Amino acid sequence: MITPILDPTPAALAQAVQALTAGQLIGLPTETVYGLAGHAFDEQAVAAIFAAKERPRFDPLIVHLAQAESLEDLAAQQLIDIAALPAALKAPLNALIRACWPGPLTLVLPRHARVPELVTSGLETVALRVPAHPVAQALIRQSFPLAAPSANRFGRISPTTAAAVRQELDGRLALILEGGPCSVGLESSVVGCEGKELILLRPGQLDLATLSARAGLSVRPAQVHPAEVRAPGMLASHYAPQHSLRLFENRGQLAKMLADGLPRAVLLLRPLSEAETALGAEHVQHVLSSSGDLSEVAQGFFAGLRALDQEPVSEILAEVPPPGPGLAHALRDRLFKAAGQRVR
Ligand code: TXA
Ligand code: MG
Repeated sequence: MITPILDPTPAALAQAVQALTAGQLIGLPTETVYGLAGHAFDEQAVAAIFAAKERPRFDPLIVHLAQAESLEDLAAQQLIDIAALPAALKAPLNALIRACWPGPLTLVLPRHARVPELVTSGLETVALRVPAHPVAQALIRQSFPLAAPSANRFGRISPTTAAAVRQELDGRLALILEGGPCSVGLESSVVGCEGKELILLRPGQLDLATLSARAGLSVRPAQVHPAEVRAPGMLASHYAPQHSLRLFENRGQLAKMLADGLPRAVLLLRPLSEAETALGAEHVQHVLSSSGDLSEVAQGFFAGLRALDQEPVSEILAEVPPPGPGLAHALRDRLFKAAGQRVR
């Protein structure tokens, strides 16, 4: 069966709402990556998400909403238990909600009893996000909160186009809504609470400095590797291509890796310089940005990795941006995990 990709016409949106109401799953565009969406309050639909994605049930899902103005609003929507939040965090969280939603931010907050335990993998917190993508907005406004992980099979490369969703999950979804290539290209920044502090559980486009400024409170990086405690889903190996993947941090390292002459696929942040062109000969190259601009790199990153994974080569070599805040941090996180390495 070939899952249809539908342009987001009113008729297609109505068909998507009907499918979701019946407990079926759809492919949903967001500004970060495409989601595999189902009715967040329908336990069978949520169970179907885990099955379609082949995702272990200990890895909780994000609930996507059309709108939320404040913590009080989330409590009124019966999504969070506001009484379980430390008073000191209310103003900073409300400031983040006002400044960052709709947008690529996920907040992990005390869960309301109405949220199915399957969504939160039995945790006492629920992850919430208001996506900015107009198709996601239009659909959720017409339906209900949607549980949606990234629309890839567990551990694989996240999809940033409708075609990539079909490649991952063909036959497991009722339909996929076309939303064009994702404008951010990396998953949302995930912020959780610990005591009276806010912590960044997953880096994304919104970085520590931006989040701290918007919250009016210093957001801390996660100290321990997230896989160990706070976010069961943030496993060391993730976003992985099927080919083996090795990373390089400068072009000297690349030259050494290519020295044996075997054909490889090379993912580059910016084009090879004239002096380096010999490196490219006989290898498949995919250049993410003509200038090395990290927004452009992030936008095309998963699609580039996916394209190289189709090439008949022994291995993919990928260039890692130097350490830095924001997208550099987020890209390093995805690359190290894709290569099955601990994040440095
Ligand atoms: O940008 C995004 O966030 C995309 C789009 C579709 O919205 N979604 C996404 O979902 O990346 P997923 O399931 O691939 O990643 C969700 C992450 C996982 O690492 C999960 O462990 C973490 O959020 N998470 C969810 N609920 C949590 C909770 N209660 N506590 C800690 N981490 C949680
Ligand atoms: Mg994912």
